Amino acid sequence: MADAPAVERIEGWDGLGVVSRVDAETGAGIHVALHSERLGPPSGGTRMKSYAGASEARRDAQRLAEAMTYKWAAARFPRGGGKAVIDAPDGLSAEARDGLLRRYGSLVRELGGRFLTGPDVGTSPRDMDVISQTGSPWVFGRTEAGGGAGGSGGWTALGVFVSIETACERLFGGRSLRGRRVAIQGAGSVGADLARRLADAGAEVEVADSDARAAERAGADPRIRVVPADGVLARPCDVLSPCALGGVLDAASIPTLACAAVVGAANNPLAAAENAGQIAARGILYAPDFVVNAGGAIAVTGMEALGWSAERAEAAVRAIAETLTRVFALADEGRITTAAAARQIAEEALAAGR
Ligand code: NAI
Ligand code: PHE
Repeated sequence: MADAPAVERIEGWDGLGVVSRVDAETGAGIHVALHSERLGPPSGGTRMKSYAGASEARRDAQRLAEAMTYKWAAARFPRGGGKAVIDAPDGLSAEARDGLLRRYGSLVRELGGRFLTGPDVGTSPRDMDVISQTGSPWVFGRTEAGGGAGGSGGWTALGVFVSIETACERLFGGRSLRGRRVAIQGAGSVGADLARRLADAGAEVEVADSDARAAERAGADPRIRVVPADGVLARPCDVLSPCALGGVLDAASIPTLACAAVVGAANNPLAAAENAGQIAARGILYAPDFVVNAGGAIAVTGMEALGWSAERAEAAVRAIAETLTRVFALADEGRITTAAAARQIAEEALAAGR
């Protein structure tokens, strides 16, 4: 095997470093960010999309890897924080895309277990099968036919669902979602599944997606109302669930929120750390992303890497409700934001070590 690729250390970021490559055939940039090995090997999804430039892509990988450190720690799961970003040009042919994924798989293999990966925005279980052809045994979230546990979106949606119940319990005194209005931004693999679960529980569900086809697919269920993507963050509702991309809650959008709670799957929905205080100052309950959205990562990794049954995975995902309850209690006790409380719970797990 070739020597392990060099890990570049980055100033002003407390992670371990980033491995970057340019894929000569497609011009794509690949950035594997390793944030922490404290609880286990750095592990996180592979995000594939087109960025405005290499530094933006690398910064996103770093911030997402950091979020994975806190996600695994808050869930007390034996993995560290890592994330890969493939900054791929739009319009690659299916063949060129598969070639890129296989070359990326070779990089994962060269890393020799220092980075484990699974799906994220822009990649699917089928893509994990392709990456696994060259990246095995460090690739998870493969299809069932490919020997994996299948998609993570449904498990993540279950974790968001129990978190919404927990937020409602705190705000309204009961976990029932009957008649509660929930507005979901993003009807992708998590958002669409979450919408169905909420409708089954008797909630009034609104979804918005910037991709008209995704919105239409979700709206095929008559219980789910499609609303315009512009302005979904400001819909009057009990719970706003950001399930699209990060950075949507900022100084411009927070004053327009018309919800009682924010509980969603999107990684890093706050544009900056101080946004947590601004949400709290508006009297809105914020359920921290890395606590709420851990379901997919823990279920899929548990089943594929640790030999968990589906029942054990479900119990672990449902336990997110207890972690979130602790976060709310700690925020009250310490008069700190829920984001700071979640961070404290994760830091305690990190300090305790493996
Ligand atoms: P996805 O790519 O399947 O779906 C995202 C959807 O959001 C797409 O349909 C897209 O068109 C839509 N979208 C993008 N920008 C939008 C906007 N401004 N307004 C409305 N819709 C918009 O992604 P997936 O897997 O559902 O993930 C959603 C979020 O949850 C991401 O931030 C992801 O990182 C996070 N997450 C996902 C997990 C998983 O297991 N899939 C696990 C943990 C977090
Ligand atoms: N996309 C997942 C997340 O952000 C990452 C993941 C999925 C990791 C499946 C491993 C397995 O949590």
